[in-house]
Amino acid sequence: MPLYYVWNIGCQMNAADARRVEEGLEAMGFRRAPQIEQADVIVLNTCVVRQSAEDRVWGRLHSLKPVKRRNPTAFLALMGCAVGDPKALAAQFPYVDAFIRPSDVEGLLRAVEQSGLAPAAPARCGSERSGEPRTLPQPVPLSEPCPSDEGEDSRAAVPPSPVSRGITAIYGCNHRCTYCIVRLRRGGETSRPVADIVREACQTAERGAREVVLLGQNVDAYGRDLNPPQDLADLLYAVHEVEGIYRIRFLTSHPGDLSPRVIQAVRDLPKVCEHFELPVQSGDDGVLRRMGRTYTAAEYRALVAAIREAVPGAAIATDIIVGFPGETEEAFQNTYRLLEEIRFDAVHVAAYSVRPGTPAERLPDDVPPDEKERRRKAVDDLQKRIVGEINRALVGQAVEVLVEGQKKGRWFGRTRTNKLVFFEGAGDWLGRLAQVRITWAGPWSLVGEVTP
Ligand code: SAH
Ligand code: F3S
Repeated sequence: MPLYYVWNIGCQMNAADARRVEEGLEAMGFRRAPQIEQADVIVLNTCVVRQSAEDRVWGRLHSLKPVKRRNPTAFLALMGCAVGDPKALAAQFPYVDAFIRPSDVEGLLRAVEQSGLAPAAPARCGSERSGEPRTLPQPVPLSEPCPSDEGEDSRAAVPPSPVSRGITAIYGCNHRCTYCIVRLRRGGETSRPVADIVREACQTAERGAREVVLLGQNVDAYGRDLNPPQDLADLLYAVHEVEGIYRIRFLTSHPGDLSPRVIQAVRDLPKVCEHFELPVQSGDDGVLRRMGRTYTAAEYRALVAAIREAVPGAAIATDIIVGFPGETEEAFQNTYRLLEEIRFDAVHVAAYSVRPGTPAERLPDDVPPDEKERRRKAVDDLQKRIVGEINRALVGQAVEVLVEGQKKGRWFGRTRTNKLVFFEGAGDWLGRLAQVRITWAGPWSLVGEVTP
């Protein structure tokens, strides 16, 4: 039986794409290879958001050259945001069989089919729609776990789960953030029709998913390119109807685009979790302007206030870039103060990294690397203290946890506010909602016991 191996790094959309690739290959009759060297089909699904991610991609690709030499009939595909100019890449990497643009899962599967490696009689078990058991499948981790390339992240601490499923709602992005290569590689906004997304949500629910995470580089832009136009709130209402789904999240939001209707939908729809991913990037207006972000720090503060007023207890997570060109100590302090004041539930912080072809490439990268690292660590330390305090306030309280799996004999899952909780419990909790009383809290996870 032919074998495949999918290597994946990067954002949640990449993780969702990698999963669809794996499912597609399984449906064609391939099975997962225990090791990359044994695979007949190798897919590298890549990220180049920062230099550190890009270095990992080229390192991985180079390491496959001898593998391909030993096994010349293996099919090797490079997919994702590393694929900018396929022609130039083909000249540079002649041992790669296909270059596939980000999210083009169908293109990848077509290329595999054309390679002639697929088994003659695809080993499909029943059709997509019927005959599937309503029991949960075993957790299928991606061939390689997908840690974020920098910083500590609770998402990296546990394996991916079939209980929570990312579904892409909108591809691409029309913003012009000057540091960002993602929009250059992924192109402009293209929304999927509501009916398609609802159908995929139904199918994943039938296979055991209990949470749907609606994905977009700027998910708030959802639907404005559709005819007739729709918006993210319409989509939330539609997915809310899907039987078997207990929870809905959406990410990532853009502070210039998150609409009052969406905030109201979070308030009004019981399945939609009180959780916003709202990257601010900087707390300094000069830096925000040079970044091409479309809001001021004051407008961001007002938006957070509006969310907290409408949805008390909402968790708000953010992204920060430190050391952007021209970020003075004073400008950095404006970011630091904003973080102290807002007290986010999670902060993903990264040092600025010049990306080829972006407008910011023309600005002098004038914050020295050790100063960028100092600022990055200052944000990390501050956030560790803040989130430690936020989490400690939960000790003694009962929270609702959607159970995603087991690790080292303990069950784990998340609160509606996206906090990772571990607990011990007899019986099968996978995919169920547990009421858990918190007994211990650290910055990255909580521990508790099930209440009857
Ligand atoms: N809207 C997308 C953005 C993708 S990039 C989303 O969050 O889904 C993800 C994060 O990486 C950004 O929010 C930003 O904080 C960070 N980032 C993007 N380009 C960067 C660069 N050139 N250097 C450092 N960090 C960057
Ligand atoms: Fe990039 Fe800004 Fe869009 S970070 S993906 S251009 S919102």
